[in-house]
Amino acid sequence: AIERTLSIIKPDAVAKNVIGEIYSRFEKAGLKVVASKMKHLSRAEAEGFYAVHAARPFFNDLVNFMISGPVMIQALEGEGAIAKNRELMGATDPKKAEPGTIRADFADSIDANAVHGSDAPETAAVEIAYFFPQAEVYSR
Ligand code: CMP
Repeated sequence: AIERTLSIIKPDAVAKNVIGEIYSRFEKAGLKVVASKMKHLSRAEAEGFYAVHAARPFFNDLVNFMISGPVMIQALEGEGAIAKNRELMGATDPKKAEPGTIRADFADSIDANAVHGSDAPETAAVEIAYFFPQAEVYSR
């Protein structure tokens, strides 16, 4: 089915100047960018986005990292977009990510892991709506 997923290029990858390289991987895999913006998240925005992880021991480090610089936020659309994006990203921990994946190529640690991607259709819908009003998603 045609799906949408929320993708974030994290501060580490933005600082490495690989936004275009990562967009190119999305496009080559058949994913279309249907919404996009650069943003330096506030602490409240980052905490809200990662609210499901609020009780986890890594929550504070995660939030501090996500507000350490601007991020690039996009909605991706395509056949099986959620799984496809997760394949392109590789495992959360870059040490476990398959060669050739975004995290294997650009990530330094489990926090500075280059990208975020939604993990299921329900979370994708919530995450896209968190950053983009409907009028800013250009389905095509
Ligand atoms: P992300 O897909 O953005 O979702 C939550 C983030 O928490 C994850 O990527 C990692 O960057 C970060 N994180 C840090 N430690 C862990 C952990 N032990 N398990 C899962 N995620 C972690």
